[in-house]
Amino acid sequence: MNFELTEEQIAVREAARDFAQNVLKPGVIERDENQTFPKDEIKQLGELGFLGMMVSPKYNGGGMDAISYVLAMEEISKVDASTSVIMSVNNSLVCWGIEKFGNEEQKQKYLTRLATGEIIGAFCLSEPEAGSDATSQRTTAEDKGDHYLLNGTKNWITNGSSASIYLVIAQTDREKGHRGINCVIVEKGMDGFVVGAKENKLGIRGSDTHTLLFNDVKVPKENRIGEEGFGFKFAMKTLTGGRIGIASQALGIASGSLELATAYAKERKTFGKPIVEHQAIGFKLADIATEIECARNLCFKAAWLKDKGEPFDKEGAMAKLYASKVAMEASVEAVQIHGGYGFVKEYHVERLMRDAKITQIYEGTSEIQKIIISRAILKD
Ligand code: CAA
Repeated sequence: MNFELTEEQIAVREAARDFAQNVLKPGVIERDENQTFPKDEIKQLGELGFLGMMVSPKYNGGGMDAISYVLAMEEISKVDASTSVIMSVNNSLVCWGIEKFGNEEQKQKYLTRLATGEIIGAFCLSEPEAGSDATSQRTTAEDKGDHYLLNGTKNWITNGSSASIYLVIAQTDREKGHRGINCVIVEKGMDGFVVGAKENKLGIRGSDTHTLLFNDVKVPKENRIGEEGFGFKFAMKTLTGGRIGIASQALGIASGSLELATAYAKERKTFGKPIVEHQAIGFKLADIATEIECARNLCFKAAWLKDKGEPFDKEGAMAKLYASKVAMEASVEAVQIHGGYGFVKEYHVERLMRDAKITQIYEGTSEIQKIIISRAILKD
């Protein structure tokens, strides 16, 4: 077993850290407060190659491994989880989904631009009545010969108004159940496609989360990804990889909380000494650091399996389940260690605490991860 990172992986981590600390940090409080999408920052992230990290260079991607992706996601998420969710959806769900299952034409037309960040994408599975229970799709993609007629509503869509293309999961043949579901690529501007209300969220407020409405949208058949009826499996396989991204986001929120709490504890004095020298604080930091190391190793294990082309459904779900729990606990403790200062925006930890919560909800709630893990255990 080799725990050493390669020179390239270390360089990716350094570049991501530098970008997060010097470009993202200065405006992060304001973007969170005003719900401002990080438009310029995302453009720069694309120029640095962080929006199509694992895409083959043939399609303008970085050709990097999943371990590098974990490292970059952790560094970006330490500072700005709004930016990292945009990055995660584009990398893991949209780029990976198209590269793995799209045809050559779709890759040339969309992936080459998604990988550089010239455009970004969105992944549209959730509906008002189909969140965890993803087979209950109400959105329909009626087969009309040379096109599908798309009707329905999608909810909680990350990159909802800022995306240029949308991977939309919809039911074509209800009698076939999940085997009658398709995934089609919808372009912004197609007639009948409307970006609806923006959510006013507890956390990740710089990312734009919207309801999307489809009213008789004509989507050409060539925009379907994979064979007829492959849409549900497409969504499940894509989300499996996506969980490494969100687990790494949670890891970053946790390790960002620890870094801030440690720095503060070294500076802040009570009863004549820095609070880090009080066991009450030292023990908290020791617990958080240990849990973070466990979460990081789970993320690396899932990424390592992915890089080897081996199944990682269980490991990805474990990484997301555990890292999101650690993100929540570490950020709450970081606020506690900061005392009153932790409750105000300038010290960053209250935002990390608010951002942490979503990692237990999206790309499958913690309960969904437990379903996936327990099913895998039964199969082993
Ligand atoms: N890979 C490949 N195929 C899979 C799969 C996987 N990981 N998981 C399921 N499937 C296949 C099954 O093999 C089965 O196919 P067959 O019948 O042909 O064998 C089919 O899919 C149906 O599977 P299940 O019977 O297991 O389906 P289920 O209804 O019991 O649900 C579930 C399984 C895991 C709970 C699934 O519904 C699920 O993952 N739900 C959560 C959805 C989710 O994560 N939503 C988040 C929205 S996206 C998001 O948040 C993005 C964002 O903006 C940040």
